Amino acid sequence: MNRTIAVLGSTGSIGTQTLEIAASLGIRVAGLSAGRNASLLAAQIARFRPRIVSVADAAVARTLRHALEGLPAGPYREPLEILCGDEGNRAVAELPETDLVVAAMVGIAGLGPVLAAIRAGKDIALANKETLVAGGSIVIPLSRQHKVQLLPVDSEHSAIWQCLWGNDGKKIRRLLLTASGGPFRHASAEELERVDVAAALAHPTWRMGGKITIDSATMMNKGLEVIEASWLFGVPVDRVQVVVHPQSIVHSMVEYTDRSVIAQLGFPDMRLPIHIALTWPERTEGICDAFDPFDPRANTLTFEPPDSARFPCLRLAYEAGRTGGSMPCVLNSANEEAVARFFAGTVGFTDIARMVEGCMERHAINGIVRDPGFDDIMELDHWARSYVRAFGR
Ligand SMILES: NC(=O)c1ccc[n+]([C@@H]2O[C@H](COP(=O)([O-])OP(=O)(O)OC[C@H]3O[C@@H](n4cnc5c(N)ncnc54)[C@H](OP(=O)(O)O)[C@@H]3O)[C@@H](O)[C@H]2O)c1
Repeated sequence: MNRTIAVLGSTGSIGTQTLEIAASLGIRVAGLSAGRNASLLAAQIARFRPRIVSVADAAVARTLRHALEGLPAGPYREPLEILCGDEGNRAVAELPETDLVVAAMVGIAGLGPVLAAIRAGKDIALANKETLVAGGSIVIPLSRQHKVQLLPVDSEHSAIWQCLWGNDGKKIRRLLLTASGGPFRHASAEELERVDVAAALAHPTWRMGGKITIDSATMMNKGLEVIEASWLFGVPVDRVQVVVHPQSIVHSMVEYTDRSVIAQLGFPDMRLPIHIALTWPERTEGICDAFDPFDPRANTLTFEPPDSARFPCLRLAYEAGRTGGSMPCVLNSANEEAVARFFAGTVGFTDIARMVEGCMERHAINGIVRDPGFDDIMELDHWARSYVRAFGR
């Protein structure tokens, strides 16, 4: 396929699957950025021969140079530019020869590079939902101003997007956003208090990066997706209905004003929404398993309402979405830091929601910023993280 891309977050779950799809389609890769996984990035450089790569900091850049020296000599070595930090991410995002930037970094760190890519006129294949949750009020108008497409990679949003093709987006009655329910769908409130990291990482249907897997277990992931859907499809959060669907076969649905409901189905495999974003507006031969309605995984499809009492993160995300302004940014940053503390073992699973709620309450008292700019968002990110770091200490 005659297309050139850059991948932000190339060493992660979405990043590696993106490169697999790019290789299968003959898409060129001009730029890669990663955090700290220098050995995997070195292998990707040898295979895809990007012109520019970026890593988290100068120390990782040194490790990367060392890792490249350990590889057999090859044409990938020259002319390769190795950058680091936010500046490096932006340089990868702005590369003149790319048509599309895949935003597969995790967290709000993706916001600056995504904005840089939009300003450079690049279409964005967006996996990095935190960017839209925290910065939707900047990303959406800027993408309109620069006439760039935001192509959803999240499987639910890809499903909704496909259900909208050929239909009138103004005639949406509801978006029905499906959720697997995560590993603790049947857990009692008491059992949730005792959940450890290993249990929270055991997602029943999807294999993903660590942060999103914890978010799925708390259902914050679904809450972030409600806000993401609201921005992408111009529908208020209260018209985005979460539907627990444990089989993860129906990836989401759109109900139109005439009450017709259109759904997109498939076995859970992120390579499909990635493929769709990389090849849009064409439909090309895929590499995922074909859907088989007679497969035991698809025999029984069930739907149930979510339980916001046991999973308060979902309620908090709706509240943040309704409040708008800077509140979704505070929700997101507090959650990122709370998940980091859960991983570090300094707080329990149910403390994640407690810390996020406390931070949102404090922010409401301090004063919500109605139309936050980039600097407001970065300042609030810093404040929310400090709040969560200090919580309970
Ligand atoms: N995984 C899924 O199935 C899935 C589905 C839907 C949406 N998403 C969304 O996609 C995004 C990525 O998720 P993931 O599961 O792929 O996460 P992941 O496996 O944890 O990967 C995150 C990637 O971001 C990179 N990264 C971290 N900090 C960075 C920095 N400062 N500069 C450049 N790169 C940095 C990591 O690099 P290192 O590993 O080298 O440190 C890694 O390549 C998230 O926003 C998630 O919500 C994921």
